[in-house]
Amino acid sequence: MASNERPRPAGFATRAIHEGDWSGTIAEEPVSPPIWLTADYLYEGLEHYADVINERRPGFVYGRYGNPTHVALNRLLASLEGAEAAWSFASGMAAIHTTLTALVRTGEHIVAQRTIYGGTFSLLSHVFPGYGIRTTFVEAEAGAVADGIGPDTRAVLVETLANPTFRVADIEGIAAICAEREIPLVVDNTIATPCLLRPLERQGVTLVVHATTKYLNGHSDVIGGSVAGDRELIERIRRLSLDQGTTAAAFEAWLTLRGLQTLPLRIERQCATASALAEALADHPKVMNVGYSGLPGHPDHERAAALFAGAGYGAMLSIEIEGGYEAGVRAGDALRVARVGSSFGSLHSQVCHPASTSHRQLSADERAAAGIGDGLLRVAVGGEDPEDLIPDLLQALDKA
Ligand SMILES: Cc1ncc(COP(=O)(O)O)c(C=O)c1O
Repeated sequence: MASNERPRPAGFATRAIHEGDWSGTIAEEPVSPPIWLTADYLYEGLEHYADVINERRPGFVYGRYGNPTHVALNRLLASLEGAEAAWSFASGMAAIHTTLTALVRTGEHIVAQRTIYGGTFSLLSHVFPGYGIRTTFVEAEAGAVADGIGPDTRAVLVETLANPTFRVADIEGIAAICAEREIPLVVDNTIATPCLLRPLERQGVTLVVHATTKYLNGHSDVIGGSVAGDRELIERIRRLSLDQGTTAAAFEAWLTLRGLQTLPLRIERQCATASALAEALADHPKVMNVGYSGLPGHPDHERAAALFAGAGYGAMLSIEIEGGYEAGVRAGDALRVARVGSSFGSLHSQVCHPASTSHRQLSADERAAAGIGDGLLRVAVGGEDPEDLIPDLLQALDKA
C-alpha cells in the first residue's frame, strides 16, 4: 500500500515520523532530480523485501547498496565514458582501492606508473604489501610496462595525465601490451577528464577510474570517485564495494550530478586559460621548465595532440622554478588571484608544492625518480578571467 493511501495516524510523534514520507505525489518530471537522502526502505511486506534483497525483483535495499540518486550518477558517468556501466564511490581512493582489490589477490602483482598521485602510491607501496600484493613501478611507456609484467601480474595502473608532472602516458601502446597479455588496464582519467579522452571508447582500456572530487564535480564541495567499464566487471566491483563500504552517499552523488552538467563548459574554458598561461610562463626568467603538453616543444606534445584530438591539453601544469622550495614559498605568498590550495579541478585556481604536500608519501629518492623536484610547483587553472589570473602568476614568480 502506498503511504498516501494509509489512514492518517492519530499520534503526533507517529505523524512526525511517517507523514513526510515520499508518496509519489508528483507526476511531472523535475528538471533537477530529487536527492534521495534515505539510508533504508520500507516494503509492502516481508516477501517484497526478500524479493528485492535477493534480486528477484528490482528495487532498493540500503544506502550502502546504492540509492536512486546514486543510480542516476552511475548512469551519467557510464554515458560520459562510453561504458556499459559505472559505479560511484565515497572517494577517488575508495574507487582505486575497491577496483584494484577486485582484480588482484594475495600473492599477485600490479604494474603501476612511477609518477602517480601520492595517495595511490602510498596505497600500492605501503598498504597493499600488507595484503600480500606487490607493485612494480615503471614509466608509463609500453616497453617499460611490458618489462614490468610478470606471471602473477593481474592489473596495470596508469594516469592519463600524471599528477603532478602532467607527462602523457602511452595509453595506446600500454593498452596493446595489456590486451596481448590479457591483463586488465586501469586508467586514472581524473586530470584529462572524458572531455579530452575516453580511453574505454577509443584506446581499448579495461576500466577508467576517477577522483570525481576534481573536475567531474568541479566545485570543491565533494569527495567522490568512480569506475566505468563493462557490465560484468563493474558488477564484480560493485559487489566488493558493498562489502568494503565504499559506495558514494546520496548528497555527494547529487552534487556531482549537478556539477557534471557544466563539465564541458568548464573544461573548455579552463584548458584555454591553462594554454595561455603555459605560454606566458615559458618566457618567465625564473621558470626553468613548464610541464604542459600543449606547448609545441614539450616531449609529449605529439602524443597529446593525437590522444586529445583538439579537445585541449588539460587545465593543469607544472613549473620548475629557480631557487627550489624557498623560491616557491615566496611566489606562493605573493599570489593574489590564484591561491595556495590542497586540491584541483574546481573553478578556483590553486597552486601547490607537491614535494612537501600531495607527494610527501614518496621518499626523496622516489620523488627524484618520479620527476618531482624541490622546485616543482603544480598549478591548477580555474575559471577566473585570464586577464586577472595570468598577470597574477607572473607577478608572483617575479618575487620568487
Ligand atoms: C589523479 C588522482 N587520482 C586519485 C585521487 C584520489 O582522490 P580522492 O582525494 O577523492 O580520494 C587524487 C587526489 O588528489 C588524484 O589527484
